Amino acid sequence: MHHLRKTKLTCTTSQALLMTKLTKNTYKFTPAYREAVNLSDGTPVTLRLVIPADKPLLERGMDNFSPESRFHRFLSAKLKLTNADLRYLTEIDGVDHFAIGALNQTGEGIGVARFVHFGDDREVVEPAIAVIDAYQNKGLGRILFRRLMAAARERGIKRFHGSMLSDNKPMMQLLHSVAQRICFDCQGAVLEFEMSLDNSTD
Ligand SMILES: CC(C)(COP(=O)(O)OP(=O)(O)OC[C@H]1O[C@@H](n2cnc3c(N)ncnc32)[C@H](O)[C@@H]1OP(=O)(O)O)[C@@H](O)C(=O)NCCC(=O)NCCS
Repeated sequence: MHHLRKTKLTCTTSQALLMTKLTKNTYKFTPAYREAVNLSDGTPVTLRLVIPADKPLLERGMDNFSPESRFHRFLSAKLKLTNADLRYLTEIDGVDHFAIGALNQTGEGIGVARFVHFGDDREVVEPAIAVIDAYQNKGLGRILFRRLMAAARERGIKRFHGSMLSDNKPMMQLLHSVAQRICFDCQGAVLEFEMSLDNSTD
């Protein structure tokens, strides 16, 4: 789940076809996607895809995470995002690396969920999610993760494979509430999970 994994993206024929579908708006989760949602306390939030111009939002967002949240997200004591991190996290193709963000009413970034392809299996991606502490436990994590699942499914992805710290109760709760089928493999403090995107409701 920590991926600041630097994968070199190459454009294959199937990716090119996917991009064509995206631009023809066959997909719901395109650059034009906007969605207004209310959190459990009524807070209005806008969802949209992450764009390169979001670097300052991500940089400021990082300051709004508690050390514990940052540790859970990156599986390390990361304090700041480097310029290379910011490029990696925002300059994305929407196919091999997809990210959806949540903004509050003042336009600040309050959460982001993403998936990244790794390895050769085109049907599996690694997801990651983070909601800043002031907005946690209001349903935003689940909303973002469900949208991430829907975006992955429309891109032909069949499974999420990720890792998280085994003491991460909110993430564990979230996964159990959205996954129809999920399996875990505990390697010390780190828990690997693989969940099917089939037959899930979102
Ligand atoms: C994991 C995370 C994204 C959840 O986001 P969120 O907006 O708080 O999640 P939701 O409000 O949708 O709640 C999801 C579930 O977690 C539970 N939960 C949320 N905060 C909790 C807390 N502090 N303690 C216990 N459970 C909690 C909710 O009750 C809910 O469970 P339910 O399905 O039984 O109702 C958020 O805690 C976070 O960003 N953590 C730091 C980064 C991280 O751990 N990322 C995951 C690994 S990459």
